[in-house]
Amino acid sequence: MTTASLVCQTAHGTHRQTLYFNTQRHFLTVSVDLHTTLSFDREGRLIGVFLDGANYRRGLCGDILMKRASTRGGKLRRMLPPEERRRLLALVRRRLMIIRECAYNTTSVDIRAWLDRILTWDVERLEAERAAFFSIYKPISILPPDQYLSLVLQAAEGCSWNRCTFCTLYRDRKFRIKSCAEFRHHIQQVKDFVGSGINMRKSIFLGDANALIIPQSRLRELIAIVHDEFVFGSPNGMKGIYAFIDIFGAERKTFDDYREMHDAQVKRVYLGLESGDEEVFRCLNKPGSPAACIEAVHMIKSAGINVGIILLAGAGGARLASAHVTHSLDALAAMKLNAGDLVYVSPLIVSSDSPYMQSLRDFQSEPLQGAAIQQQLEHLKSGAKAVCGNGVKVALYHLEEFVY
Ligand SMILES: C[S@@+](CC[C@H](N)C(=O)[O-])C[C@H]1O[C@@H](n2cnc3c(N)ncnc32)[C@H](O)[C@@H]1O
Ligand code: SF4
Repeated sequence: MTTASLVCQTAHGTHRQTLYFNTQRHFLTVSVDLHTTLSFDREGRLIGVFLDGANYRRGLCGDILMKRASTRGGKLRRMLPPEERRRLLALVRRRLMIIRECAYNTTSVDIRAWLDRILTWDVERLEAERAAFFSIYKPISILPPDQYLSLVLQAAEGCSWNRCTFCTLYRDRKFRIKSCAEFRHHIQQVKDFVGSGINMRKSIFLGDANALIIPQSRLRELIAIVHDEFVFGSPNGMKGIYAFIDIFGAERKTFDDYREMHDAQVKRVYLGLESGDEEVFRCLNKPGSPAACIEAVHMIKSAGINVGIILLAGAGGARLASAHVTHSLDALAAMKLNAGDLVYVSPLIVSSDSPYMQSLRDFQSEPLQGAAIQQQLEHLKSGAKAVCGNGVKVALYHLEEFVY
C-alpha cells in the first residue's frame, strides 16, 4: 500500500486528503481518505466505485450496477440508466485527473504507469466497449455468485428447455451449441477483448443456461479446446471449469460422463432445484422431478464433482409455502451435500411477461409478497444450514445483484 497527500482547493478553502494506492498484481484500488474507492483492472478499465455510501460495480459488458442500503431497511439495487452511467464515468475520470496531478511526483513509477493507463479510458472509450462486448457475447443473464469473477465462454447459447414459468432469462435467444471452430474463434475474441484483465479471472464458466446438456462427444471436444487455450493448475492458471446443468441434461449423462468431466477439471455444477415439492416443481414447469434431481446429485458427487443447488424463495405462492419449505429442506438433506458444495436461495422475481402468475392461478395459489418472500428466504437459509453438512456454504443468490 502506498499513500500520498492530496491538497484540494475548493470554494470553501483548502482540504488535505490522503490517497491510498493498493496495487495488486491484477488490479489497482485508489482510496481517498478511505471514503471514496476506485478500482481498475490491469487494462485500466473501471471495475468498481465506492462513493457517498453507494457501491457501483462495472461489468465487462459496460453496465454499472448500484447497490446501497435503503433508508427503509434492506438494500437498493439498480442498473444505472445510460445518462447516469455516463455521469458517473465522467466524475470518476475528473477525480482521477486531479489524483494524477497531485500525486504524480510523489508516487512510484508503477503507480504512475497505472494512472496513465487508466486515463486512456475516457467515457467514450469505456462506452464503446459495450458494442464490442455484445459482438462477442450474447447477454450473460446470470452466474452463481461464486462465479461472478469467472471468465465466461459461451459454448452454447440460451437454454435447451426455456419453458420454466418463472424464468425469462434466456427467452431472447434460441438454444444452440457452438461448433468447435466457432468456439475457438469465440475464445480468441474473448481473450482479445478482456486483454490483461484476464488475470483477475480464476475460473472458466461454460455458458449459457445448461452447457452440460451438450452431447458428450461434442462437450469433450469443446472442453479440450478450453484446455488448449488456457493453463490450468499452475499458481496463476485457471482453477477449474464450472457450468449450470438442468435436470434434463443431468438425467442424460452417465457416471462415466461425469467422471470424464471431473478429469477435465470440471469442479462444480449448478442445478436449479428451486423446490423439493413436486407440486411446486410442476407449477414452475421445471423439467424432471425433485427425486430425479436428488438422484442426479448423487451421481455427480460420486464422480467427484461438487454441486451448487439453487432454491427459489416464494415459489408456489401462499398455498404451497409450507410444503415448499419442508420438502425443499428434505430434498437438500437427501442430497447428502458436503464440503465444497453450495446452496443458494434466490428470491423469486416475477417479470410481467412470464407465465408464472397464470400457473399460480392454475394451481389455486396466490403470490407471496415481498416481506413474506424475505421471511421464507431466511427460513430456507437457516433450514439449509441446519440440514446440510459442515462446510456447505449457504448464501443469497439475487438476480438483481448480478452484472458481468
Ligand atoms: C440458469 S438458471 C439454472 C440452471 C439450470 N438451467 C436449471 O434450471 O437448473 C439459474 C437460476 O436462476 C434463478 N432464477 C431464474 N429466474 C428467476 C426469477 N425470475 N426469480 C428468481 N430467480 C430466478 C433460478 O433459481 C435458476 O435456477
Ligand atoms: S430455470 Fe433453467 S431450465 Fe428453466 S428456463 Fe431457466 S434456465 Fe432454462
